[in-house]
Amino acid sequence: MCYQLSSCAFIPRAISVQLSTNQTSFKSDRAQRVDHLTKIPRSVNMESLQNGYLFPEIFMRECLYAKRNPHARLIRLGIGDTTEPIPDIITSAMAKQALALSTAQGYKGYGPEQGNRELKRAIAETFYQDMQVKENEIFVSDGAQCDISRVQMLLDDSLSIAVQDPTFPAYIDSSIIVGRGGRFKAESGKYKKIVYMKCGAENNFFPNLSTTPRTDLIFFCSPNNPTGSAASQQQLKQLVEFAKANGSIIIYDAAYAAYISDESPRSIFEIPGAKEVAIEISSFSKFAGFTGVRLGWTVVPEELLYANGYPMIKDYDRIVCTCFNGASNIVQAGGLACLTPQGFQALKRTMRYYMENAKILVDTFKSVGLKVYGGKNGPYVWVQFPGLSSWQVFDQILERAAIVTVPGTGFGPAGEGYIRLSAFGHRECVLEASRRLTKLL
Ligand SMILES: Cc1ncc(COP(=O)(O)O)c(C=O)c1O
Repeated sequence: MCYQLSSCAFIPRAISVQLSTNQTSFKSDRAQRVDHLTKIPRSVNMESLQNGYLFPEIFMRECLYAKRNPHARLIRLGIGDTTEPIPDIITSAMAKQALALSTAQGYKGYGPEQGNRELKRAIAETFYQDMQVKENEIFVSDGAQCDISRVQMLLDDSLSIAVQDPTFPAYIDSSIIVGRGGRFKAESGKYKKIVYMKCGAENNFFPNLSTTPRTDLIFFCSPNNPTGSAASQQQLKQLVEFAKANGSIIIYDAAYAAYISDESPRSIFEIPGAKEVAIEISSFSKFAGFTGVRLGWTVVPEELLYANGYPMIKDYDRIVCTCFNGASNIVQAGGLACLTPQGFQALKRTMRYYMENAKILVDTFKSVGLKVYGGKNGPYVWVQFPGLSSWQVFDQILERAAIVTVPGTGFGPAGEGYIRLSAFGHRECVLEASRRLTKLL
């Protein structure tokens, strides 16, 4: 099933506000509509944020297209949202837990803020075998995106940061919200105080650390969203050594680790010494289809210490207890079912399906002579269009093939000239997209 554009008839309020209130029209709109103003100034950090968020901008263009072409059949390969049903064994476990809440014996209130013990044990056994990650170092959460922001609270606002370029936008945006990053420079498309570590085809999608300045924090995602490339053991060893030599912390996002098909590490903790320099954030969203269900986790090792020797895990525990209060017990029951042998086998089948989609897309672009990356260790395909801007390519593919992609610059200046396609989609949509793209290109 592909999508009828009428789904855009409902435009969420946040986006309809953006449609009508860009920076220039805001003042006149306000004069007409607002009866009362508070005396609260807008946060300068929020004012520094550019362009809202990438996906609302894409959705806005998609909706404008929908208004002009109400009968077009749109294929969405933009946002990285899972599309295939969650295996029954997992949803049954959630249903059972939900029904138990209606019984005197099965009712449960608050659970441990850090997550249910059984689930933490299953996460440790499934994802961190032989890495000496202990249950108490795992904090179960409502997803990786929330954890990216919670980790920001742990660290002083004055700290400097480095990100891969291109990168998943949440690291930069959440850093700007807490006051790290400085002003945006439109000429370069970069925030003044952020170090952008270029990761392109020319350096095998791994930054040149010999020319990277020291920063306090290094956000690193592998397999990377958007390029779909996974760092090798050797590369991650270099990264850990770099962080250690500089006294920095790596905030490692492993949200796509379950998609790795070669020898690339699935966790930063596969690298000796990483527990002294890294926090790892991960998610059930992409391997279990939990994007709407919401479940993730963060590992803060006991060995990770502040400059004064105080363990970061203690502060993180405090933040989780103060700002979170624990993931839903229904969802955690589902998470536990994901990590049973039958649950995990079923999820592997769905992951294989998405990676077959990725191969169809990779082959499509290769067949028309374009350079295409990713699609092997991660469910994203990263395509280069020399001589065109990525928003131009985005608009052309939307206008002429009714396919939604993501422009590479949405992930940072080094994304210019690229687009990203998501391999999350129904097979018939991906095949139809392949036909339309082959015709267009
Ligand atoms: C690299 C990366 N990290 C984190 C997330 C967010 O994951 P979650 O759904 O667990 O919040 C995404 C979502 O697309 C992602 O691509």
